[in-house]
Order: sequence, then C-alpha cells, then structure tokens
Amino acid sequence: MKRFSKIIGTGGYLPETIRTNDDISKLVDTSDGWIFERTGIRNRHIAAADETSASMAEIAAKKAIEMAGIEAGEIDLIIVATGTPDRVYPSTACLLQQRLGIQNCVAFDIQAACSGAIFAMSIADQYIKNGAADKVLIVGSEICSRLVDWNDRGTCILFGDGAGAVLLDSSEEAGILSTHIHSDGEYENLLYCPNPQAATDKNQAEKGVITMRGNEVFKMAVNTLGRIVDETLTANNMEKTDIDWLIPHQANTRIIAATARKLKMSMDQVIVTLENQGNTSSASVLLALNEGIRSHQIQRGHVILLEAFGAGFTWGSALIKY
Ligand code: COA
Repeated sequence: MKRFSKIIGTGGYLPETIRTNDDISKLVDTSDGWIFERTGIRNRHIAAADETSASMAEIAAKKAIEMAGIEAGEIDLIIVATGTPDRVYPSTACLLQQRLGIQNCVAFDIQAACSGAIFAMSIADQYIKNGAADKVLIVGSEICSRLVDWNDRGTCILFGDGAGAVLLDSSEEAGILSTHIHSDGEYENLLYCPNPQAATDKNQAEKGVITMRGNEVFKMAVNTLGRIVDETLTANNMEKTDIDWLIPHQANTRIIAATARKLKMSMDQVIVTLENQGNTSSASVLLALNEGIRSHQIQRGHVILLEAFGAGFTWGSALIKY
C-alpha cells in the first residue's frame, strides 16, 4: 500500500511588535515608497527581548497540534529549520521537544537558510513514505532581526521574525506528491551570515550580520525558481493549470510575481504574506501555508506548489494535494 504525507495541522506565530517602513527610515536613508515599490514590504514583526526561536516555535507548534486534534506525545519526529537556534546545541528541535513535553521522539534541526521548510518537508516525506515515522512536526522559526545590521539599508528593510508549523501524518491518500531540493555552495559570497564565534584569524573582523549582494541574489532567485517550477511539473506529468495555489517564499513581491507569471497564474492564486511580515526566512512558506488554510482559501483536494530559495544557494519545491 502506498504511503503519503498528509497535512493534518498548521500553525503560526508572529511577535507583537511591528516595525514599519517609516520606523526604518528613521534608522537608514530610505523611505516607505522605495521599500514598498522595490520589495512589496510595509511592515515586519520583531521578537521581544525574551523571545527565542524555541519559544516562538512552541506557540506555532501548539496551534498545529490543536488543529490536528492529536496529543503531542503521538509525534514521532520533530524537524526545526532555523538560522537563529537558541543554542549551538542542544538543537532547537530538542528544546521544542522538551517544551511540548514529549519524552520519546526523534528531534533535530536543519540549516538550509530560507529553503529550510521545504528541505524539512522533503526529509519528513522520506521518513513517512518508508514507514520510519507517521506523525512529523515541522517548524520554521527565525529571529532574523538579531542577524540584521540595522545600519545596512540593503538588508534591514527585508527581514522579519516569526514561526510557522505544519504537522504531517501518514495516509493512503495524497498528500505530498513530490519534493525537489537542490544546493550549490558556489554562491556563498552573494548571501551569508558569519558566525563570529567560529571565525578563523582570517575573517575575525567579520560581523555576525546578514551580508548580501541583493541585485545578484534577485536575478538568481528569479531564474532558479523558474527552473524548479518546470522540474516539479515535469516530474508529476502536470500542466500549469493543474495547480490551484502557489505558496512562494516571501522575499520580494517582484520575485513572487515572476514565478506566478511563469505559471500563468493570477496573483489571486498566490498566497502573499510579505507585505506585513517581510522575509521570515524558513518560517515564511509555513506562515503562508497556515494563512491560506486557516482563511479557507485552500480547500481539501486543492493542489499547492510551495517553493523557496535561500543562502547556499539552496532551493526547492513541494507539490502537495491538500
Ligand atoms: N532605500 C533606498 N535606496 C536603496 C535602498 C533602500 N533601502 N537599498 C538600496 N538602495 C539604492 C542602492 O544604493 C542603489 O543606489 P545607486 O544606484 O545610487 O547605487 C539603488 O538603490 C539600486 O540598488 P539595487 O541593489 O540595484 O536595488 P534593487 O532594485 O536590486 O533592490 C533589493 C534591492 C535588496 C530590494 C533587491 O535586490 C532584492 O530584493 N534582492 C533579493 C533579496 C532577497 O530576496 N534576499 C533573500 C533571498 S532568500
């Protein structure tokens, strides 16, 4: 009997404090008009001083568990995608496991920058398909505001904090139809965030902040996401018209629009959360998925294409029948 990974719950959390474009224009030479026109972003949420990736993950995860109507103890595997782990170790997934009061499941983090949630889905789907797990909790939780140089107008306008969660269960019905993930370490220098604690003498002076050549990243993202759309449709022998919803990584509205155009989809078929959340890295597609499902836009039976692109470069997609 074929096993699929079926979505049984989603959750999201956004910190209370909102930083507007006008707030940022008091820090660097920019304007609400420039930021919105070039990125589609107006607001982003900023974690409070006592919040962490694990604390935000806990809130998002509990909402997904509640929607699924299961007990936390039924979860077999927790995968957390984050670029801002609370500690170098234990993993944020282990910290989340403890917060959820689960004694006996497997928990680990993955690091694939903004593509983290798609990578986690791909891993979870392998575990479920081969029978190693039934219920898998995936969380993307990020405090990007602590990695941003608030004096760099090329990056500080883009990012926000938040956590998204999805709970998968084994099912005879589809489910995740396919996942496609890729990495190419050639592009390290276009988008990176140094870890000062691990610095060698050579790069000792580097600050632990996001460093990006935005224009080059933009072009790579548009081209790469176009290719992953083709790869996903071909692998499933599907046409563009078979897709009901596009859930893109929320980095820049112009990148999102280019992928929608490629799919000949109207923006009404695209879940966009970017305007009020900014780029929340690995949390972004999970937050958008949660919004699409909880607003009842996405209905059972709809086919959803999730895609993401991030530092590495890493990129990937997941085609899902909800
Ligand atoms: N406000 C005002 N002007 C700004 C600015 C800001 N916040 N940031 C950059 N500029 C200026 C630049 O200094 C440059 O000025 P110059 O022409 O006098 O040198 C001009 O705007 C154009 O810069 P450029 O970097 O080419 O702008 P852009 O149209 O590419 O927009 C980004 C910049 C960052 C918004 C855009 O490149 C982007 O979104 N890239 C993708 C980033 C991304 O998605 N990263 C995460 C991937 S997961």
